[in-house]
Amino acid sequence: MSQSDLGRELREEMEVLVRQLGDTLTDVIRRTDERVALQPDASEVLEHFHEPLPTHGCGAVETIERLVELNEAAGGNTAGPKCFHFVIGGNTPAALAADLLATAYDAVTYTWILSPTGVEMEVQALNWLKEIFGLPKEWSGVMVTGATMANFVCLASARQWWGEQLGVDVSEEGLAGMEQMPVLTSGFIHASTLKCLAVQGVGRGNVQTFVKDDFGRLDIAAFEQGLIALKGKPALVVVNAGEVNAGEFDPVSEMIDLARQHNCWVHVDGAFGLFAKASPRTAHLVQGIEHADSATVDGHKWLNVPYDSGYAFVRDYGLMSRAFRYSADYLPVENTTRPTFGAIGPESSRRARSFAVWATLKAYGRDGQRRLVEHCLDIAQYFAGRVKETENLELMNDPQLNIVSFRYNPGGLGDDELNELNERLGEAVIADGRFLVGTSRMGKNTIFRPAFSNWRTRKEDVDELRDVVLEIAGEIT
Ligand SMILES: Cc1ncc(COP(=O)(O)O)c(C=O)c1O
Repeated sequence: MSQSDLGRELREEMEVLVRQLGDTLTDVIRRTDERVALQPDASEVLEHFHEPLPTHGCGAVETIERLVELNEAAGGNTAGPKCFHFVIGGNTPAALAADLLATAYDAVTYTWILSPTGVEMEVQALNWLKEIFGLPKEWSGVMVTGATMANFVCLASARQWWGEQLGVDVSEEGLAGMEQMPVLTSGFIHASTLKCLAVQGVGRGNVQTFVKDDFGRLDIAAFEQGLIALKGKPALVVVNAGEVNAGEFDPVSEMIDLARQHNCWVHVDGAFGLFAKASPRTAHLVQGIEHADSATVDGHKWLNVPYDSGYAFVRDYGLMSRAFRYSADYLPVENTTRPTFGAIGPESSRRARSFAVWATLKAYGRDGQRRLVEHCLDIAQYFAGRVKETENLELMNDPQLNIVSFRYNPGGLGDDELNELNERLGEAVIADGRFLVGTSRMGKNTIFRPAFSNWRTRKEDVDELRDVVLEIAGEIT
């Protein structure tokens, strides 16, 4: 391809491709319900990804055909109704379409002039999200890749605040010579928060957890003693609104109230748990979050927007901008009417996640989000009921939100044998591929922990999950 022909050739190819893509997308999206959750034993297909770099390439049309073929033969159907692993949402129609358009426009939301629409959508969508989650409208926010990076932004802001309390601008001067920032929480703290504290120089081993049982539930009296022991020194409190094994919550409002009596920054990790606020049935679980200082929420979980999409909300814009400031002669200066999101978060160039978030909120509104949350709450309650009435299945706690923890228990086995059996069963269920569902630990017990966060999931899907678990348990025992 000579230099002068390149533009013409790619334009022509693009024309052919968009016609092909219309049919391909229609087909892929229409078959989301029926595609298997995970193709069993796809190792042969995956061998195709070991071919050498082509010299000339086969062109876009053939490549995209091949991509679809390979993904259908070996990809996970995370958008489908039978993916209950981790906490994985689906896509609303509006969010999916908007996200495709964000890519087609190649929209970049580093700063206002590159995408005035993308940036304004981000401002508006974050304001709408604050309304849904009951966060004060004065809080600032930024869209990031997910809850891990949202925690990163919130904790960097917390660390900035902590340094300033001690008269140090840590983003400028670093942490050398300072004491460690005290961090107090329950045993529900998420691994991503520990990762963020590790890379921010606070140290994951520096976290004090106050637990009253082997599951990690907060010992509130010990937590209060921990706060008193600070003797007024500034500290970080992490409140876990929704833990991943059973969807349980720290006592959010009591914890925040106590922390507020001391000199603490209160961060709430509500990656999926903050969605409790969207329904009057569960809003009490996150009552009082407006008194925190920062909060994390994930959109690719229960908002049902495509990956990747998470949101950091911080009480004080100034802390975010001091923590993440950067400048160069060619970069825009801070301007609050034409924001530069790249200067209040970790990413500079950033895709327009706002398209999908804005579109789903515009298309379905507050009521639509409430219906989506309540749909999943209903599925969780229904599935818990099915588990309860099924011989050889044991419900491990009453679901408060969207995660149901249970195990296979045919009776007559000790704890260790039950754990070993459920671990083997978990592996066999994944290998089977009809469902994507994970196991974890609740205290000393190995459990299944299906998380329901996708509008596509129907009662018949979870009935089938129950049947598949029993069927495979019968095969391996
Ligand atoms: C409570 C909590 N925090 C943080 C995360 C990390 O989220 P992400 O994978 O979107 O970074 C998760 C993921 O499940 C979570 O449940």
